[in-house]
Amino acid sequence: MKSLITGCAGFIGSHLTEKLLQEGHEVTGIDCFTDYYPRAVKENNMKNALDHNNFTFIEEDIVNISEFPEVDYVFHEAAQAGVRASWGKSFEIYTRNNILATQKLLEYYKDRKLRKFVYASSSSIYGNVDELPIREETPKNPFSPYGVTKLAAENLCNLYYMNYGTPTVSLRYFTVYGPRQRPDMAIAKFVQAALNDDVIEEYGDGKQTRDFTYVSDVVQANLLAARSDAVGESFNIGGGSRISVIDLIRMIKNALGINIQVKHTGVQKGDVRDTYADVTKARKIIGYIPMVRMEEGIKKYIGSIYEK
Ligand SMILES: NC(=O)c1ccc[n+]([C@@H]2O[C@H](COP(=O)([O-])OP(=O)(O)OC[C@H]3O[C@@H](n4cnc5c(N)ncnc54)[C@H](O)[C@@H]3O)[C@@H](O)[C@H]2O)c1
Repeated sequence: MKSLITGCAGFIGSHLTEKLLQEGHEVTGIDCFTDYYPRAVKENNMKNALDHNNFTFIEEDIVNISEFPEVDYVFHEAAQAGVRASWGKSFEIYTRNNILATQKLLEYYKDRKLRKFVYASSSSIYGNVDELPIREETPKNPFSPYGVTKLAAENLCNLYYMNYGTPTVSLRYFTVYGPRQRPDMAIAKFVQAALNDDVIEEYGDGKQTRDFTYVSDVVQANLLAARSDAVGESFNIGGGSRISVIDLIRMIKNALGINIQVKHTGVQKGDVRDTYADVTKARKIIGYIPMVRMEEGIKKYIGSIYEK
């Protein structure tokens, strides 16, 4: 089997690359090392894959590529992530890397024989919701410019499925964490601050909740979606529970066994109040069951920091 992974040097893409190589796929990875966080971190993410004979790396911006490799599967992970940075001038980066890059890939593969085109969508397409847990039918009212671009790209996947039969599936990830987590994300920031004896910034009242999903569960969801008969579908991929930021900080404190200083700052624009995925549809259709519970995942994440 031949697979293309975009964003292969990123947090999730690098884990998926390693998993597909383990499963015997020939993998081509594309990444252009956007400067959202340091290149050295991304190079380190790809270290294991680069040693593998079945891995080919293309360092290029998707938008500038005219010929993509002939593959059975496309796993489209590349994007400009991050809710809070998506306001203002940087919206151009979001429209380019999230919407235009997705359209380029879909346009290229629309006339080619693909088994599956799996798109990394996001819980941020829902925005603030009236009812929890969030089901796939819950109205989509993105609350950040980032969410708008992720929804636009998901809509493009649906359009290419409906018009050209491109076998797209969108996986709506709910806050992913684990080794190599992006340095701008809450768990990575909190653990780093605690280890450096810095103050943790807690936004708002800290009672906002998130459904955290361990990265190996997200990787598994990609494999299940690729192998399934599902096409033209979207699935919530969550971790199966939700916790408040206050409880998350307490959990990290217990796992590290050190005291943590917390400073309260204002609510961040674009941050939704709660997320919590109903994953019934993903369980029924692709057989997705999240396996890693929060306490265990946090311990694994902290373990990976000490291994570095
Ligand atoms: N991490 C999460 O909690 C989360 C939640 C929901 C959805 N997602 C989605 O999952 C995907 C992966 O997220 P991540 O956290 O691993 O992010 P990441 O920033 O670690 O990885 C994305 C990678 O894509 C690359 N990239 C961006 N634009 C590119 C382009 N035009 N051409 C080539 N490479 C490009 C970047 O250099 C980066 O290495 C993204 O699509 C993101 O929107 C992530």
